[in-house]
Amino acid sequence: EQNNRLAGKKMIVTAGGTREAIDPVRYISNNSSGKMGYAIARAAMNAGADVTLISSSETQHINGNVNVINVSSANEMKSAIEDNFNDADALVMAAAVSDYTPATYSEQKIKKNGDELDIHLVKTPDILKELSKIKDNQFVVGFAAETQNLLDNAKQKLAKKKLDLLLANDVSNKAIGFNSDNNQVSFIDETGVFKKSDVESKDKIANELIDIISERID
Ligand code: C5P
Repeated sequence: EQNNRLAGKKMIVTAGGTREAIDPVRYISNNSSGKMGYAIARAAMNAGADVTLISSSETQHINGNVNVINVSSANEMKSAIEDNFNDADALVMAAAVSDYTPATYSEQKIKKNGDELDIHLVKTPDILKELSKIKDNQFVVGFAAETQNLLDNAKQKLAKKKLDLLLANDVSNKAIGFNSDNNQVSFIDETGVFKKSDVESKDKIANELIDIISERID
């Protein structure tokens, strides 16, 4: 029985698509349910880890002994992670972080005056890349959704973000759409793809990930 394989370990999991506010009632976001991240947080909790779940999901819920921090934007997610990163043993970055955010926030609701509206966007911080500068012994896991050159892109991402592990979603598979309870991932480290899951439940993939993390952290 491997129920307590992460006992005594502090783990941060992020989940959901961040929301970048345009004005008090509008935002830009992406299609991410948060289901994969919540499944990982649950699996880590069941493995005995001390779990902090930093979430921008509006639909997922978790029961049990997990410290949930709700955030909205990429910048909020970044500071919540930074507040918890130093004494963490592992970080799993399953959140779909917005790549761009409105350059300015309108304090008042924008009126529908013209036939066109331009919203100027600026890049958000790459959270994993920023964390790589302060990374110590934390085991850091990222996700990637690639449509081409999976291995080359994955290897570049591992190096650029100093990741210990990358889970690449097979986004070409139409059977696994957004909001699905199933997924299919390739597990990639510096040696390349060392494991590929079947199309299977996110809970099962989460448990496989927890197995690997528990084997690879001391
Ligand atoms: O570079 P790309 O966005 O494909 O990398 C995906 C990984 O990087 C995911 O783990 C995601 O959570 C993370 N990410 C991040 N900060 C961003 C964008 C993505 O940490 N601004």
